[in-house]
Amino acid sequence: MTTLRFPKNFIWGAAASAYQIEGAWNEDGKGLSVWDTFSHKPGKVAENRNGDTAVDHYHRFKEDVRLMASLGLQAYRFSVAWTRVVPDGKGRVNAKGLGFYDRLVDELLNHSIQPYVCLFHYDLPQALQDQGGWPSRETAYRFADYAGVVSDRLSDRVNIWFTHNEPWITAVFGYLTGVHAPGITNPISAFQALHHLLLSHGLAAESIRAAAKGELKVGITLNLSPMYPASRDKRDVAAAQRLDTFLNRVSLDPLLKGTTPLQQFPIVNRLTTSFIKAGDLEKINSLDLLGVNYYTRAVVKHDVRIPIVSASQVQPAESEYSSMWEIYPQGIYDLVARIWKDYYKPALRAHSPRSAAGGAGDKAKRELPELIITENGVPVPDGIDFDGRVRDERRIRYLQDHLIQVHRAIQDGIPIKGYFHWSFTDNFEWSLGYGPRFGLVYIDYKTLKRTIKDSGRWFAGVIEKNSLKV
Ligand code: FCB
Repeated sequence: MTTLRFPKNFIWGAAASAYQIEGAWNEDGKGLSVWDTFSHKPGKVAENRNGDTAVDHYHRFKEDVRLMASLGLQAYRFSVAWTRVVPDGKGRVNAKGLGFYDRLVDELLNHSIQPYVCLFHYDLPQALQDQGGWPSRETAYRFADYAGVVSDRLSDRVNIWFTHNEPWITAVFGYLTGVHAPGITNPISAFQALHHLLLSHGLAAESIRAAAKGELKVGITLNLSPMYPASRDKRDVAAAQRLDTFLNRVSLDPLLKGTTPLQQFPIVNRLTTSFIKAGDLEKINSLDLLGVNYYTRAVVKHDVRIPIVSASQVQPAESEYSSMWEIYPQGIYDLVARIWKDYYKPALRAHSPRSAAGGAGDKAKRELPELIITENGVPVPDGIDFDGRVRDERRIRYLQDHLIQVHRAIQDGIPIKGYFHWSFTDNFEWSLGYGPRFGLVYIDYKTLKRTIKDSGRWFAGVIEKNSLKV
């Protein structure tokens, strides 16, 4: 057995999002979000389920925070529902909604758990969708206003802020494939949405910093996957590069370099100049923290039948799979190593003492966004055994295998600051309803009783020792 030790100040946490756990969809003055509307339409979510009650975290947050503390979590990443705070997306602020997050933050701090606040996790106010949603530039400005309201209230106690969770998913699932709210299928709208989501990150970062009551960091969380060509055939290699641009670089380039690869897609090429205005990319390029969500990789082949990217994924026969994805632990290492090589190293080199910039090495290091794993986890068909235990050994194996790779990246000099498990409790998994279970804590959906799974106890042991025995 070897012991893998993590760095002294490494942060161990778990994550969740408002719509997936809160319930109380129309309580205390909350406005409608696109997910309320979407999930209430027949046929949009498996078994026509919705988040009306979810895991009732809105009423049970104290119990949930106690459970977090019992596992020794050092941080909790949650999202704020825009419609609780600003029910119509703009204008009137709802004191009761803001009050809920205020109490949640206090409860966390009272249990020595650091709040990591994310301002958007897919739940756009329906009122703003009715006026065009993310394809409309106006929405970006309204988001910045809302970000100012929340940070004005919470930044005396919260110093880690994420503007968005996975803007790519909001844009592509919401406006291109339509499997997420608001269920639109228009490629141009999707590219516009992505640009405005990223722009709103930059605008919100400004309003959060302007309202700040103390020192804080502003970041964003992205869904990223490393790409591997299915063969050495140069058409597959090119297809993997195109998918990489479509999934990863569309967000990483603007956020970390202030450039965009969007022109590479003929479908948007003609139009980019109409929605990317002068100065937008510089605004987006403003980041203290980069959150990486990793679930799986993509093995890619050339496929002309697929619009926009002419590429599709293949599922290697020898791999292990969960109900949603291939399980590929090495991917988390490959992904952060690639981000480090392509986005961090060049910036460090440009500022190294020997370069023309001269002597600014430390400063550049400080200014590079910190890297954090903000989500990683696996859906497992857990159940309660006769003695009340949930023996989710497969999740433990998944966590262990991924943490080994995170540790390896740190050993190789990539300064990963923390690891957040997705998710704290089982919850509403979007269009898949309550089928997939991702939690460290099991939810009985009839009684809403919480039971810590074996993986939760295992994770608590890792946190306590800040190390892993393998
Ligand atoms: C991520 C989302 C999160 C959850 C997990 C499984 O893409 O951020 O809400 O759905 O996937």
